[in-house]
Order: sequence, then structure tokens, then C-alpha cells
Amino acid sequence: MTRRNKFLASIVFATLISGTMAPVAFAADAAAKPDAVAYREAIMNTLDVQVAALGQILSGATPDDQVVSHLEAIAETASQALKSFEAKVEGGEALPVVWQKWDDFSARMKDFQVKTRTAADTAKAQGKDAALANILDALRCKDCHDIYRKKQ
Ligand code: HEC
Repeated sequence: MTRRNKFLASIVFATLISGTMAPVAFAADAAAKPDAVAYREAIMNTLDVQVAALGQILSGATPDDQVVSHLEAIAETASQALKSFEAKVEGGEALPVVWQKWDDFSARMKDFQVKTRTAADTAKAQGKDAALANILDALRCKDCHDIYRKKQ
């Protein structure tokens, strides 16, 4: 693949996974928002950046020797995500249904946490190929966004 195609492939991967395309403006964006919204968005953006980095590896744009640590970063961040939504502060891109259907939302977030942790542990124990084989099942970002996040 050419350099440009590799770049595009990694963007396509990231878009496919999260349903987000535009790069995110971190600090400037966070400044005008309530703290609770800025905090959960910082966590979501961390996920986005780590998934994009993994996408660059999967597209062959960059060597694959850091797959384990990217999966670790994703699993760690996933474990922080639920807490960041506990404060019932509407706004940002979160739909009110997050708190109206909290049982379902939190079950999905916990499932996401468990699956990303399993992917990281599998990568460590059995190698990156074993973990990457099921990675799309762990990164079900879009399933949740389709219900709980405002459409772009
Ligand atoms: C269980 C639900 C759920 C899962 C799983 C989930 N998200 Fe989100 N995500 C949300 C919600 C809700 C918002 C809106 C938050 C807000 O703006 O207040 C959001 C927002 C975002 C945003 C926008 C942040 C901003 O600055 O506006 C990005 C980027 C994002 N998610 C990426 C990801 C990625 C990548 C994954 C998977 C690796 C993921 N999300 C998994 C629920 C989820």
C-alpha cells in the first residue's frame, strides 16, 4: 500500500469502529463544557485515539510490536468509562436516554470493559494475532453510539 492508502485505511478502520471521523479538538472543546461532560468526552477521545493507532498498525502503516500496549490502553480506558457517566449531567453528545435506560447503558459499558480486558489479556498470553482475530467484537463502539450518542 502507498503511504496515503495506508493512512486512509487507518481512518476507515477508526471510522468504522467509532462512527467518528473528524479529528477532535481536545482542550479548546473541553473549555466551554461542564466538567462532567468534558471528563467523559476526554475518556471517549482517548479511546478514539488508541483505536486509531491500532488501526494504523492493522493497515500495515506502522510496525505491530505495540499491539499489546495499545490493547492495554484501550482496556484501561474502557474501565474508566462507566464512572465518567455516573454524574447525571446531560449535554455534550450524550442523549438523555443514557440515564433513562441506565441499566442497559451500564451493562453495555461493562460488557465493553470485559471484552477489551479479555482482548488485552489474550494478546499478552497468546500473542497479538489471537487477540486481533476477535478485536472487532470487542470494539463495539458504534452499537452503543447508535443508541446513546447524538448523530453527527
Ligand atoms: C456503552 C456506550 C459506549 C461505548 C461502548 C463507547 N462509547 Fe463513545 N460515547 C458514548 C456516549 C454516550 C458519548 C457522548 C458523550 C458526551 O458527549 O457527553 C460518546 C462519545 C464518544 C466520542 C465523542 C467525544 C466528544 O468529544 O464529543 C468519541 C470520539 C467516542 N465516543 C469514541 C468511542 C470509541 C472509539 C469507542 C470504542 C473503542 C467508544 N466510544 C465506546 C458511549 C459509548
